[in-house]
Amino acid sequence: MKDNDIDKPKGMWLRQSIQDAMTLALPEKKFNENKIDLVEIDIMINNLGKNFEDFKILNLTDIHLGQWITPEYLDELIDYVNTLDFDIITLTGDYFSYVIDDYKLAFKKSMQKLRDCDGKFAVLGNHDHWMGSKIVTDIFKQSGIINLSNDSRVLSRGEDKINLAGVDSCTVCADNLDKVIAKLEKDIPSILLAHEPDFAEESSQTNLFDLQISGHSHGGQLIIPKVDTAPLRGPNSYKYPVGIYKVGDMIQYTSKGLGTNSFRIRINCKPEITIINLKNKN
Ligand SMILES: [Fe+2]
Repeated sequence: MKDNDIDKPKGMWLRQSIQDAMTLALPEKKFNENKIDLVEIDIMINNLGKNFEDFKILNLTDIHLGQWITPEYLDELIDYVNTLDFDIITLTGDYFSYVIDDYKLAFKKSMQKLRDCDGKFAVLGNHDHWMGSKIVTDIFKQSGIINLSNDSRVLSRGEDKINLAGVDSCTVCADNLDKVIAKLEKDIPSILLAHEPDFAEESSQTNLFDLQISGHSHGGQLIIPKVDTAPLRGPNSYKYPVGIYKVGDMIQYTSKGLGTNSFRIRINCKPEITIINLKNKN
């Protein structure tokens, strides 16, 4: 997989040094489950087979390890995740931020600690390309995590099936939806993992996907109470920055993610672990 320099931030080492100093100064570095938003939502899917009723997808996204989130925090977070009720785990990108060599072993250790379930699946985010996609995908391989970037798998339960597909990061122009579509089994429900939520504009046009799961936005790190809107939006998360949307016939779900960008600010926007519970719409 070739990495792409599109929009790659300048001065990664300098950015990381500033981050390291600020993280060191944090009064509280430990994981605290009370400071996490465990979002559990039902998503209605057309023609979902009865064996997939209440099928639970646990999604983690935007860990940005080494940028505020320390290896110790991630380790404790995975311990907490392992206590939760889910069938599969999905990971929707940006596992690293500005450096990778100092954190790749810690990331691998945490990924290898994820408990056994019916499958672990991931796509890459823009930062993963900037840091080195091969390092990240090798860690997935060594951790029993299937890389679904521009790929798809059929999940079966009894006589029922769904497509679980993934598209690579559109921020770095690594997305190849045609390749994904060629791998989809026809006439069964399809779920797409896509790091960037606004990719829903493209994926929904195909009328092939029931649900897209994304991150990338960090929920804008600021959500205005009552109206639940995120005013701070970046590229590829302008349209669908946080929560649930209907895009054509497809449902778009955007997680607030776990890490933050350069500034460790989250106002009314806690870090999120998502559990999506599938329900048959018919
Ligand atoms: Fe991202």
